[in-house]
Amino acid sequence: MCGGRVAGLASPRVDGVRAVVPPESAGLDGVVSMGWLWLNGWVRIDIGAFAGMKRICEPELMDDPLQARVYSEADFSIDDAAFTAEVLALRAETASSALEEKILDLGCGPGNISFRLAAALPAVPLLGLDGAAAMVELAERRRQASPERWPRLTFARARLPLPAGGLRDLPAAFAPPYSLLVSNSFLHHLHDPAVLWRAVARWGAPGALVMVRDLRRPESPEALREQVERHAGNAPAVLRRDYAASLAAAFRPEEVEAQLAAAGLEDLRVSPRDDRYLDVSGRLPA
Ligand SMILES: C[S@@+](CC[C@H](N)C(=O)[O-])C[C@H]1O[C@@H](n2cnc3c(N)ncnc32)[C@H](O)[C@@H]1O
Repeated sequence: MCGGRVAGLASPRVDGVRAVVPPESAGLDGVVSMGWLWLNGWVRIDIGAFAGMKRICEPELMDDPLQARVYSEADFSIDDAAFTAEVLALRAETASSALEEKILDLGCGPGNISFRLAAALPAVPLLGLDGAAAMVELAERRRQASPERWPRLTFARARLPLPAGGLRDLPAAFAPPYSLLVSNSFLHHLHDPAVLWRAVARWGAPGALVMVRDLRRPESPEALREQVERHAGNAPAVLRRDYAASLAAAFRPEEVEAQLAAAGLEDLRVSPRDDRYLDVSGRLPA
């Protein structure tokens, strides 16, 4: 599924990229130069060998407590507000009174999107799912700090894919099926992307609204380098390195279209968004 593997890459935030580097990793040397990605000054990866055509996976879970904390403290507010506003607008435009409203946030991390949606739709049950204990703990801590603000919000630790019957133990209010499934910056973490689409197909109610946003992999090594320069040109080397790694782990729109076709989700539409994201949105068949 992946073109290769870069183990243990820390993941800092770079201009919209969901990535955080724990401080003790900040000393790592990572430089994108002349078609090569240099790690620690001695691991040399040919960007041309992986970024242009193949992908390289990042570690799936963000389960290092420090990494999770740094991520939760990073400021993603502009992107998160934009994503949430677009989800809410899509929901309003395509409202379906036939569906019992229930929301699932897949790969919710510390709940950045979950809390925003729950604030906008306090009466709608919302389940945030993440496989990293450290992330779910942070989300739960924030929820429990003012439970009265989040009467219908809950989080659960669950690493996808779940065995048959997974989520069955949840209180009925939060159990599948869901009328709205969202996921932000999650797809590129999955070593097997079919895991996300199977979850959508399995837990989405007929007619459910789906909105997934992720990075998209640049078309060529030159485009990758150019994008790293444009969005992280002034960032420390480690940030540029990890931005390159996240972009290399992401998918091309045509790959996502093939994933959707394989999962029987052709009703969802893939659209590039500005110069670095892709959106997958639409309704499941009613
Ligand atoms: C970059 S974060 C995105 C968090 C959140 N969606 C946001 O918008 O900030 C990706 C999250 O996906 C989670 N994750 C990765 N692979 C997973 C899997 N197989 N099952 C469940 N969660 C997973 C990671 O633990 C991490 O919290």
